[in-house]
Amino acid sequence: MALLKIARMGHPVLVRRADPVGDPAAPSIRALARDMVETMADAGGVGLAAPQVHVPLRLIAWRSAAGGVGVLADPVVEALGDATEEGWEGCLSVPGLRGVVPRASRVRYAGRDLEGRPVEGVAEGFEARVLQHEVDHLDGVLYLSRMTDLSRLGFQEELARAERAARAPAAAGDAPGGAGDGAGDGHDRAE
Ligand code: NI
Repeated sequence: MALLKIARMGHPVLVRRADPVGDPAAPSIRALARDMVETMADAGGVGLAAPQVHVPLRLIAWRSAAGGVGVLADPVVEALGDATEEGWEGCLSVPGLRGVVPRASRVRYAGRDLEGRPVEGVAEGFEARVLQHEVDHLDGVLYLSRMTDLSRLGFQEELARAERAARAPAAAGDAPGGAGDGAGDGHDRAE
């Protein structure tokens, strides 16, 4: 087990198309998946794609809606229906920033687990968002290029400050704090 170094925006591995995993049960892939899960947890992320740890393979890990951690090799995600929704996202490869991204509300996903068995399922809402974000990483796409309104991109710290101010307009003179988390808090982001 090891914590892996996370690639940041600007590194070429984040803008190339990743390669198929091959055999997901191979010891090297299973070790990579374990390290990705550990790295994701350590960084407080809700998802991680192999290119984010400098490995150009189609492998993702994410925190599932059920509370567990999912790992998928060669994942495919497709929208179910036309419904989309906007939500805040962040990315471990773009530290400090948060932005509003439109995504399909409901998706079907498929791939293989670490035994090489086919896996498929349906995800919606936040989990669907995380899956779309992670699979985008495999195609060299960062959430910034999915945004439609860059005025809704900002530093998490500033967004949280603005959010607090908006929530407590009548409390001028009060000590800061107590207004809860900001817009891009840890419960509402994809990595
Ligand atoms: Ni990301």
